[in-house]
Amino acid sequence: MTHPERTFVTIDYAALPDDFLWGTATSAYQIEGAVAEDGRSPSIWDTFSHTPGRIDNDDHGDVACDHYHRWREDIALMSSLGANAYRLSVAWPRVVPGGDGPVNTKGLAFYDRLVDGLLEAGVTPSVTLYHWDLPQTLQDRGGWPERDTAEHFAAYASTVAERLGDRVRHWATLNEPLCSAWIGHLEGKMAPGWTDLTAAVRASYHLLLGHGLAARAIRAVAPDAQVGIVNNLSTIHPASDSPEDHAAAVRMDGHTNRWWLDPVHGRGFPADMREVYGVDLPERPGDLDTIAAPLDWLGLNYYFPQVVAADPEGPAPYATPVRRDGVPRTGMDWEIDAGGIEALLLRLTEEYGARKLYVTENGSAFPDVVRPDGTVDDPERQDYLTRHIAACASAARKGAPLAGYFAWSLLDNFEWAYGYDKRFGLVHVDYATQARTIKGSGHRYADIIRGHGERV
Ligand code: NOJ
Repeated sequence: MTHPERTFVTIDYAALPDDFLWGTATSAYQIEGAVAEDGRSPSIWDTFSHTPGRIDNDDHGDVACDHYHRWREDIALMSSLGANAYRLSVAWPRVVPGGDGPVNTKGLAFYDRLVDGLLEAGVTPSVTLYHWDLPQTLQDRGGWPERDTAEHFAAYASTVAERLGDRVRHWATLNEPLCSAWIGHLEGKMAPGWTDLTAAVRASYHLLLGHGLAARAIRAVAPDAQVGIVNNLSTIHPASDSPEDHAAAVRMDGHTNRWWLDPVHGRGFPADMREVYGVDLPERPGDLDTIAAPLDWLGLNYYFPQVVAADPEGPAPYATPVRRDGVPRTGMDWEIDAGGIEALLLRLTEEYGARKLYVTENGSAFPDVVRPDGTVDDPERQDYLTRHIAACASAARKGAPLAGYFAWSLLDNFEWAYGYDKRFGLVHVDYATQARTIKGSGHRYADIIRGHGERV
C-alpha cells in the first residue's frame, strides 16, 4: 500500500511550548559537494562512494546539492517554509583535514558564514559534529575501532566549538552512532564497509567514548553550550508469539536502542548484549563516567518500527527483520507507523528521565516528480509528516519534554548507499540544474508551523 487516503489529522498545538523549534535537517556529505575545495580532505564516504558497486548507480557526493556554493539560497528556502531552526553537520575533513593536527581556517570559515547567515535569517542553528564523514587519514590509522580516533574527535569538537560557540548553543556530538558502528563495521553497507563483529563492537565503544570526551571539550570552550547526542531508535515487535521471537525482539532492542542509551545514562553497556556479542570491550578505568557526561538533551531520529524473528544462524544480534504485508510503506520500503515516534518519546521520558527532547530527524522518501506546471505533489509525504507531528504533540501532551522537531530533510540529497534515487526532501532538487522546488510537503510544513504560531 503506497497511497494512503489523504486524511485530516489534528495537531494538539497547545501541547507544544511557545518557543518550539520547527526545523529541517541535513548533513554535510549529503548536500555540500565541493569535496576538494578550500582544503577539504577525503572522508571515508568519498572513498566508499567511489568504490564501484557500493552505491546505487555508483552515485557519490562530489557535487550533491552544491550547498557549499548555494547556502544562501538554501537559507532563503528555510525562511520561506517559516522554519525557525536548522540542523546541519560540520565536515571534520574540512576543518581538520589530517584528522588531527592543523586546523584549516578556510574550512572553518564556511561554517562561520553559514551560521551568521542563519542567525541573520532568524534561524537557530543546531550543529552536529559527526555525521559519518571520518577523515580518511584516520581510517588509514584504524578508524573508530581505535581509541585514538575518540581523542582526535574531541580535539576537533573543541576547535569547532571554540570558533562557533559564541553563536551556536545547540550541539550534537554524534549522529546515529548505530549506523557508524553496526552498518559500517558489521553489515558493511556503509563506510568503511567492514563485516567484522569485533571491530564493530570496538567502534561502538569508541564512538560513545568520543561523545563523552567531546561533550566535555565543548563545554570547556563554550560554557553555554547545550550538548546532546542523536540516536536512531526503533520500536521493536516480535514477529510471532513464540518465545524465540520474543527473545529476538529483546536482543534487537538491545542492539538498536539500549546499547546506545544505557551507557550515556550512566547504566553501563547492557550485560545481556555484552554476552550476545561476546567481544571484550576496550575498557579503561573512568571511561564509563566519561561516556555518561551529563546530557542537556537527547535527539531522536525516528523513521520506522521493526518486526523481527529469531535468526540463530545470522549475524549478531541473531534477529532478522520480517516484512509484514498490507501495511503502508515509504519508498524505502520502510513501514509507516506514527505511533512509534510517540512511544519512543515517552520511553525516553519515562525510562531514561530525559530532561529535554528533540526529534532531530523524521521523514520519508517517495519517488517525486516535477509536474509540467512546475509543482511537486507528494500526498504520501504530507500525510507522513502530519501524522508524525501529531504523534509528537500527543507525546508532549502526555509529558514528553519535547522542544523541537526537525524534518528530514530540507532538500533531496545523497541518501548514502541508495544514492540520489531516494528523495527525502521537503524541497525537490533537480540534480542536472540544481533547481530547487518546494514540494507540497514543504507547503504543508509551512502551514503546520504557521498553525502553531497562530494558535489561540
Ligand atoms: C538518518 C541519517 O542520519 C540521514 O543521514 C539519512 O539520510 C536519513 N536517516 C534517511 O535515511
